[in-house]
Amino acid sequence: MKWQSILAPYAQVVEELKVKLKGIRKQFEYESEHSPIEFITGRVKPVPSIIEKAESRKISLEHIESEIQDIAGVRVVCQFVDDIYTVVEMIRARNDLIIVEEKDYVSQKKESGYRSYHLIIEYPVETVSGMKKLLAEIQIRTLAMNFWATNEHSLNYKYRGRIPANIKVRLQNAAEAAFKLDEEMSKIKHEVQEAQKMFHRK
Ligand code: GTP
Ligand code: MG
Repeated sequence: MKWQSILAPYAQVVEELKVKLKGIRKQFEYESEHSPIEFITGRVKPVPSIIEKAESRKISLEHIESEIQDIAGVRVVCQFVDDIYTVVEMIRARNDLIIVEEKDYVSQKKESGYRSYHLIIEYPVETVSGMKKLLAEIQIRTLAMNFWATNEHSLNYKYRGRIPANIKVRLQNAAEAAFKLDEEMSKIKHEVQEAQKMFHRK
């Protein structure tokens, strides 16, 4: 199969979403306002990961586009927990995409300790063979949640999904510590934002 021709439109989706979300960040910057977005990353799922996921879920290759929702993935990282919900509302208000699924792992953490807000969206892209509506996953999380998820992801990779029990407990503790950090920072949010505004004007 020609993976390149399947994945090219997804690469287009990732690039467009990154540009649009970075646009939001820039607008806040011009206004010298606190941006709810700290940074954005994006990726197209590597072919071996697509194949692995399809195999483990018994998805036939003709159905991967409808069954695997994170072939295109964009991550929005925020400074504060409140910002996550601001970003969700801004995405909800857009009319260039449709939200088809929503998971709030921010208020309901996963057993691993993972927190993030997930949106599955349907996004139209123009391709050489016309308009195509593709699914994409947007993960929205704080810097602290991102720090935790990045480290946990590395360990999952190292242990091939079978992290030893004692390390799992440590990760759950670390997730709790990250959550407390977010809570404490939220309490001094206005102080931090004022300081950052002053710094920005200089
Ligand atoms: P996926 O097959 O992973 O899409 O599972 P799902 O359809 O049940 O979706 P879910 O929202 O649980 O997870 C989607 C994505 O969120 C994953 O691909 C990861 O990027 C991220 N994620 C979910 N759970 C964890 C976790 O415990 N640790 C880390 N590091 N990331 C997670
Ligand atoms: Mg998923």
